[in-house]
Amino acid sequence: GRTAVVIPAAGRGVRLGPGAPKALRALNGTPMLIHAVRAMAASRAVSLVVVVAPPDGAGEVKNLLDDHALPERTDYLVVPGGDTRQESVRLGLEALPETVTTVLVHDAARPLVPVDTVDAVIEAVRDGAVAVVPALPLADTVKQVEPRGKGEPEPVVATPERARLRAVQTPQGFDRDVLVRAHETVTDDVTDDASMVEQLGAPVVVVPGHEEAFKVTRPLDLVLAEAVLARRRA
Ligand code: CTP
Ligand code: MG
Repeated sequence: GRTAVVIPAAGRGVRLGPGAPKALRALNGTPMLIHAVRAMAASRAVSLVVVVAPPDGAGEVKNLLDDHALPERTDYLVVPGGDTRQESVRLGLEALPETVTTVLVHDAARPLVPVDTVDAVIEAVRDGAVAVVPALPLADTVKQVEPRGKGEPEPVVATPERARLRAVQTPQGFDRDVLVRAHETVTDDVTDDASMVEQLGAPVVVVPGHEEAFKVTRPLDLVLAEAVLARRRA
């Protein structure tokens, strides 16, 4: 069957600070979303990209896709998103044609993921994994704390063994039916799609991620993203 990518791009980007919705902000003159769409369409295995636009921005996103050069072998669809990432992904999944059997979900906020990472995720799904996440070892030690009020010191509860922890990226790849079932079943708040599949009891595997697949979250990440683009052009 076909491989499609759902790109949730409907978030406002509160942590990035005031301005346009995060996915529409420019990186070296080109909207972050366009970089992300190109990163996915760079894989020859991807035949459809579904962009989940800000709820009131679907028209604007359609125009952006029309105005930028994109590979012609790939089809592009735009649907309006929802209030949460989870809801936005679900709306994207609903737009998939029947012929799609493998689905990747990729944050618009990870515009610089290399095509080799995309292909590795797709290959792992085609080799039989029902859920695949790219991830990297952590540089920082992580502590679990007991959250307290603002300004109050937070007691440490535990320190998980760093060597066994992974920082998870996107694109995450799935058997289409498994991901759709996860989105129909799981109602808890989650921060990635694979955790919904974990809650179904289905196996999730990790493949190597890439440093350049980092998420543009805070202002400093914009500086890093533009430096990576400049280095690529050099
Ligand atoms: N996203 C979405 N719909 C939402 C919220 C988030 O499609 N209602 C998307 C974002 O556009 C982004 C991805 O999910 O591509 C990852 O989310 P995140 O980095 O948290 O982006 P924002 O939610 O926009 O940022 P913030 O949490 O700082 O507001
Ligand atoms: Mg968010």
